[in-house]
Amino acid sequence: MIKKGIILAGGKGTRMSPLTKAVNKQLLPIYDKPLIFYPLSVLMLAKIRDILIIVNKGQLNQYKKIIPNGNNLGIKITYLEQSYPKGLPDAFILGEKFIGKENVSLILGDNFFYGQNLTKQLEKNTKLKKGARIILHKVNKPELYGVAKINKNKVLKIQEKPKKFLSDLAITGLYFFDNKVVRYAKELKPSKRGEIEIVDLINKYKKNKNLSADIIGRGGAWLDTGSIEDFYKTSAFVSAIENRQGFKIACLEEIALNNGWIKKLEIQNAINFYGNCDYSNYLKRISR
Ligand code: DAU
Repeated sequence: MIKKGIILAGGKGTRMSPLTKAVNKQLLPIYDKPLIFYPLSVLMLAKIRDILIIVNKGQLNQYKKIIPNGNNLGIKITYLEQSYPKGLPDAFILGEKFIGKENVSLILGDNFFYGQNLTKQLEKNTKLKKGARIILHKVNKPELYGVAKINKNKVLKIQEKPKKFLSDLAITGLYFFDNKVVRYAKELKPSKRGEIEIVDLINKYKKNKNLSADIIGRGGAWLDTGSIEDFYKTSAFVSAIENRQGFKIACLEEIALNNGWIKKLEIQNAINFYGNCDYSNYLKRISR
């Protein structure tokens, strides 16, 4: 069972400047809550309760204002700062002590997942004992992402942002790894753009025939928050679903309550913390 998860929530956010000059991208709103709530909710739905959030140097206090610690969610949150964006696998080098001898999941702070079977699919993937697992989703513009060519569940080739068409299956920013990931990450050399690359890390598993893939089908949504346009489209998606159904996506306290990690007292604390707002009104409703 994978019990530990890392959220990589740093990065320069240059594509969203000037919005990201003073505020980190993951703290900007996707409709009614900060972006970071969505990847955090994914780990919580996967029943992962021990979570490391990696943020940019100097931005720790901003995050702690929104997610001070995990107490009110029945989870444990550890924060670490990344001095500059060295590449996604840096999460495992920085997180070495946090990971210890265990397996670990990584989710990128700007990734949004939604779908009926998501929780079941997540729980299935946290059962990974050996190797690495990538989660794929069909997209219209694969050239914007890491891409995997597969045959049944076998991964034939993976490539970062391929210029020539390889496959339309994007590698989403949700990964499951065994404990070798720390050693493999340390062995990586920076690419031409000066970062250590997640595809190089995954390729190490592939070389050792220890890589598997799972697909989020067309009933599930993996949305991008890479550009300002994507940000608004994802916000519109959340708004449409929430206003139609009356359920909130990524209400952290609701997930914690459903998981049996917190009781009504913690919901009341959360209502006091957030103050008089729509999110608190929702918390009042679910705790009745
Ligand atoms: O979203 C899925 C894609 O994420 C994958 O398909 C690609 O294979 C993977 O490389 C990655 O591509 P991006 O171009 O989206 O990566 P980006 O550099 O934008 O970083 C993704 C998030 O991770 C973003 O929220 C910033 C954060 N980050 C990134 C780096 C490189 C960090 O916190 N630290 C870092 O060092």
